[in-house]
Amino acid sequence: MILETIVTTHSTEAETHIAPMGVHLADGQMLVMPFRPSVTLENLLATGQAVLNHTDDVRVFAGCLTGRRRWPLVASEKVSVPRLADCLSHVELELVRVEEDALRPKLYCSVVHEANHAPFKGFNRAQYSVLEVAILVSRLGRLPWSKVESELAYLRIGFEKCAGEREKEAWGWLMEKIEGHRNEVINRMVDL
Ligand SMILES: Cc1cc2nc3c(=O)[nH]c(=O)nc-3n(C[C@H](O)[C@H](O)[C@H](O)COP(=O)(O)O)c2cc1C
Repeated sequence: MILETIVTTHSTEAETHIAPMGVHLADGQMLVMPFRPSVTLENLLATGQAVLNHTDDVRVFAGCLTGRRRWPLVASEKVSVPRLADCLSHVELELVRVEEDALRPKLYCSVVHEANHAPFKGFNRAQYSVLEVAILVSRLGRLPWSKVESELAYLRIGFEKCAGEREKEAWGWLMEKIEGHRNEVINRMVDL
């Protein structure tokens, strides 16, 4: 199973980094798989620590993909990496094993502490739509425009039926980013 989480790490200079990552559950361990190059990868290798933050505030996912990485943080319990202040729950990790790979190394981590902070209030289709569009945005340079357009048309259905204020704000940031990418592609074609 893969959980879509917000991973916090920090550098050896204690500079915190926040990034969305799909984290795999692997025989009681957590497997983080960042594509190179990645600040999360460098930080985890350098400090051996990370925190998984489970949040239903999809603005954090969309924000990280659109240059909005400054989310409130608080100290964790057993690791020096901070957690998101407003997460539903968090899991503190220590790196135990690395499987090297030129494209996507595998970082196996053990859980050293976990805690709940707020209740999960149920599934929401607009949150799913925002997550999927955030993933699309992380791959914009590698996907044909036709694929982006067709996926957006489908994801917009759940978004329009179910979005609350947080989902609408996140969606707006992502649409701005996609529009900017579309204009760049059009300008490149005009220049040819
Ligand atoms: C829901 C979601 C899941 C993601 N999962 C991964 C992942 O497993 N590995 C990865 O390298 N990037 C993933 N990304 C993209 C990264 O968040 C993004 O590219 C980020 O900047 C990673 O690089 P960084 O560690 O330098 O911040 C995901 C994005 C989203 C929205």
